[in-house]
Amino acid sequence: MGEKVTVPHIVKKKCLGERITCLTAYDYSFARILDEAGVDILLVGDSVGCVFQGQPNTLTVTMEEMIYHTRAVARGRKHALVVGDMPFLSYQVSREQAIRNAGRFLQEGGAEGVKLEGGLAMQGTIEAIVKIGIPVMGHVGLTPQSVHRFGGYKIQGKSKEQREAVMGDALAVEDSGAFALVLEGIPLDLAKEISERLTIPTIGIGAGPHCDGQVLVIHDMLGLFNDFTPKFVKQYADIKEAMTGAVKSFIADVRERKFPGEEHSFH
Ligand code: KIV
Repeated sequence: MGEKVTVPHIVKKKCLGERITCLTAYDYSFARILDEAGVDILLVGDSVGCVFQGQPNTLTVTMEEMIYHTRAVARGRKHALVVGDMPFLSYQVSREQAIRNAGRFLQEGGAEGVKLEGGLAMQGTIEAIVKIGIPVMGHVGLTPQSVHRFGGYKIQGKSKEQREAVMGDALAVEDSGAFALVLEGIPLDLAKEISERLTIPTIGIGAGPHCDGQVLVIHDMLGLFNDFTPKFVKQYADIKEAMTGAVKSFIADVRERKFPGEEHSFH
C-alpha cells in the first residue's frame, strides 16, 4: 500500500501528469474497501441525500448528518484524503458560519479538507476558509445545490455566455486558493480548456476525459442505485444483482430449513 495521500500530493499529481481518482463514501465499511483498493480521495458527498436517504435532491442534507457520515468514513481511511462536502446553507449565509462549519468537518469529522459549490459568488468564502488553514475543493458547472435555479440537472456551459460564466467561476476558485476543482456536467471541450488553463487539478464528473482526475458516486458505479443513471456513469459492477441473489438464497435457505446448519450453531 502506498503512503498517505495529502493535499500537496493531489496538487503535485497534476504537475506529474498522474490522474487523480476520487469516489464518494458515506460509511466505515465502504471507506475501508475503497481505501484498501487505493483510491486517492474519499469524498463524503452530499449525494448521501439521494443514494443513502432516498431524497430527490441534496438540499435537505444537514451539517449534523454530514459530520456523522464523515466521522464514519474517516475511521475507515488509512491512506486516502478525506474531503467533506459542505451541505446547502452551511456556507452561503455568512463567512463566519462557513469557517465554523468547514472547521467542524476537520475537528469533529476527521476530514482533511472540504468541498463547496460555487465560483465567483463563493470567492471570498473560499479565501476565508483557506486563510485559516482548511484546504478547499471547489465545484463548478452543474452544481446540484442550484438544481432549482437550473430547472433540473442540466448540462451547463453549452452557450457562449454560459461557457464564459463557467470559465470565470473556475478561475475565481483557483484565485481564491482552492487546491482542486470539481467540474460537473459541462461539455468535454470546455473541461479541457479549463483543465489546461488552471494550475490546480480538475476532477471531472460528466465533464469528459481531459480533466486531471475523475470522481463517481460509489452507488452509481457499483450498480447499487438505479432510480436514475446519468449518461456519464460507467457501471463497473452489478452489486444490486449480487445482493438480490444473496438475499433470495438466504430467504430460501431459512424457509427450507437449510440455514443455520450444524456449522453455524453452538453446543
Ligand atoms: O455530492 C457528491 O457526491 C458530489 C460529487 C458527485 C462530486 O458532489
